[in-house]
Amino acid sequence: MEAGGKGLLKKLWSAAQMAALLGPGVLFLAIQYARKRDRLEPKAPLPPWQGVGKPLGLKAIPGGVRVRFPEVELEAVFLGEDLLRLTWSPGEALPPYALAAGEGEAFPFEPERREGGHLLKTPRLALGVGEEGLTLWDGAGRLLRREAYPERSGRAWRHRVRLAPGERVMGLGERAFPLDRRGEVFRFWNRDPGGSYGPGEDPLYLSVPLWLSLLPEGGYLAFYENPADGFADLRGEEALVGFWGGPFLYYLIPGPLEEALARYLGLTGLPPLPPRWALGFHYARWGLRRREEVEEVVEGFLKRGLPLRAVHLDIDYMRGYRVFTVDEGRFPDLSGMVRAFGERGVRTVVILDPGVKAEKGFALYGEGLREGVFCRLPSGEVFLGPVWPGLAAFPDFTDPRGRAWWGEKLKGFLDMGISGFWLDMNEPALFAAWGEPTFPRSVRHGLEGQGGDHLLAHNLYGLLMARASFEGFWKHAPHRRPFLLTRAGFAGIQRYAWAWTADVESTWEGLRTTLWALLGLSLSGVYFVGSDIGGFSGDPSPELYLRWFQMAAFTPFFRLHSARWTKRREPWRLGEEVLAGVRWAMWLRERLLPYLYTLAYEASQKGLPLLRPLFLQGGTPTAQAEGAGLDEVFLLGKGLLVAPVLEEGARVKEVPLPPGRWYPWQEDGALEGPARVRLPAPLERIPLLVRAGSILPLLEEGGLVLHLYPGEGGGEGSLYWDEGDGEGPYRLDGFRLLPAVGGYRLLWESQGEYPWPWEGVGLRLFGGRLLRAWVGGKAYPAGEEGARLPPFQEAFLEVAG
Ligand code: NOJ
Repeated sequence: MEAGGKGLLKKLWSAAQMAALLGPGVLFLAIQYARKRDRLEPKAPLPPWQGVGKPLGLKAIPGGVRVRFPEVELEAVFLGEDLLRLTWSPGEALPPYALAAGEGEAFPFEPERREGGHLLKTPRLALGVGEEGLTLWDGAGRLLRREAYPERSGRAWRHRVRLAPGERVMGLGERAFPLDRRGEVFRFWNRDPGGSYGPGEDPLYLSVPLWLSLLPEGGYLAFYENPADGFADLRGEEALVGFWGGPFLYYLIPGPLEEALARYLGLTGLPPLPPRWALGFHYARWGLRRREEVEEVVEGFLKRGLPLRAVHLDIDYMRGYRVFTVDEGRFPDLSGMVRAFGERGVRTVVILDPGVKAEKGFALYGEGLREGVFCRLPSGEVFLGPVWPGLAAFPDFTDPRGRAWWGEKLKGFLDMGISGFWLDMNEPALFAAWGEPTFPRSVRHGLEGQGGDHLLAHNLYGLLMARASFEGFWKHAPHRRPFLLTRAGFAGIQRYAWAWTADVESTWEGLRTTLWALLGLSLSGVYFVGSDIGGFSGDPSPELYLRWFQMAAFTPFFRLHSARWTKRREPWRLGEEVLAGVRWAMWLRERLLPYLYTLAYEASQKGLPLLRPLFLQGGTPTAQAEGAGLDEVFLLGKGLLVAPVLEEGARVKEVPLPPGRWYPWQEDGALEGPARVRLPAPLERIPLLVRAGSILPLLEEGGLVLHLYPGEGGGEGSLYWDEGDGEGPYRLDGFRLLPAVGGYRLLWESQGEYPWPWEGVGLRLFGGRLLRAWVGGKAYPAGEEGARLPPFQEAFLEVAG
């Protein structure tokens, strides 16, 4: 645990930074608060760590066993043949906020006695209960994990996990570190790094104690269902994982890792299908102080033909930063503005901060006090901490009354036509001149009636603020799909909100860090993620800005945002060359919408990530042998390999190609993997490759066009489509390309009630020249831009020999 302050110098330095960024008024409150927090923070030294000893006996229970130790017990229960839950007691049990549904059925099996212990075995997993610790194997008998029996110190638990040579450990939520986490220590504690972060900053805003282990053969997932302050120390041959309180409760799932992640999402919940507009481009800027400034920006995008789908209002729209208020003087008739934007296809999203200004006469504060929804100190006094509006009180989202109260407040904005909410400062973050920028650990939380302290509830704050907002959204706008964007969260956050990587520095290192953070989130079950294009806190060079834009066009959440002290950075302000590159990236994103929407649908049904590091695809650790490159490129879905340029001045990108054939974007000649290839990366383009065997649905000139990239056996692809919001009918189209004499057969199968909304379908073939297409004996000519056909079940594509 980090102490309150570490030396005067450090305190002065952080106070000086804060003053520079936020001004002297905030600094005064921040100093006052840091002193108060230091006083309130319990400082009792921890008792020494003690081992739990050796097992004394074992008893069969439904689905598993209970193992007795001198002073503790372990319960090991299979919730399925590939899902094992281990619970140590005594522990501080908490409501299962991270989990989506009730527990699964216990899987029937009998423990076997073995020399030196017991074996619990299903067709997919085996757990050995030995003298010194636990051992886990997969169904093929491959060793997955060895862990020693844990140690305790007061409320805290920790254990050692042996790491195999060549083992990579990934996941662990949002991290400013390369994907392979070995060699570092990480903390599970949601934290606002304050103003700007770069590589090596830890922890960040969103913790997920999910560990993905990629072994030379196979791998597994471990999920610690404990929101308390915790750590994973991966510096040695043995990892040390522990928590300073809460339940010592974890799940083990065997690989392949792609399936393990989907299984984890079965446990903690699938992301809902987002409204389609949310996959378009979003614009935000902190510091737009007047309605006209926002209108001017929206006009700026639209008049230049840049497809803007949503505009976000940062805290500037509020009256003195009071949450749920609008400054009518600076933002008159907000609902009129929202409507006018809506008519032009632009949605409005507003930011919400959890802090409620503690001010006599502020109705919301008075109401919150009367209804008893704010967090309190052990003395019973409402806890106040400084944020944007000054001292504020904070709803207790771990209390159902607090959540319901908050959810009601969304109604006004929803009735006004606001389409989504951007949840910020929910680590929860406070202004502290030094030390931890959050509540003291002694702050009390309801935790569904059982009560507990902030050490337990801290990492749940963002998750439950998102849940409260999601539930309020559903209640008051039942025909719209909730769109929420959050900064903080915990396991299960994917059920409610998208996440962005927030205040990263505007440097090339910041860009690289962003890619690590995004992939880390994706490998932790948080699939809808994005970043502030260009970095939040500084002024990117035009080149960095464009490279960031290009990468962001392939991340699920695509938004430009920046701090108020930076130069304005709408794409037309950075020169013609940048504008042209941005235009291309934005329009490519628009064209890819059917592909992205289909991926979003698959994520919502099957729990597959949108952003996938190379090793994840198909369960084969393809990049493993090469090592390098794990952090350099990613797949968007199965079909697209995106190779962002992360270095200044680079005009070539080295790409580790996974096995198979890969077509450079819209080219005919495929490259053969596995190999490292050097691809041209002129400033105006990001290198992209398409996996041979893919059929990508694109929107072009208002119509649907299939891009066919044949592999040896032809290809396949699918398309999900519906009205774009709500719960009406949908359609699912499956396409199969089969090699035939003189060309290909293309088969089309559909499900669902939603009518095909386009006129016919376009076809573009790569890797061969399409001469014409035949449907029911009628020929359709193909030109440079391919062919257009009426809807069909089977077509023949005649290809030049
Ligand atoms: C911090 C957020 O990370 C940032 O995106 C936002 O602009 C500021 N808060 C102001 O609301």
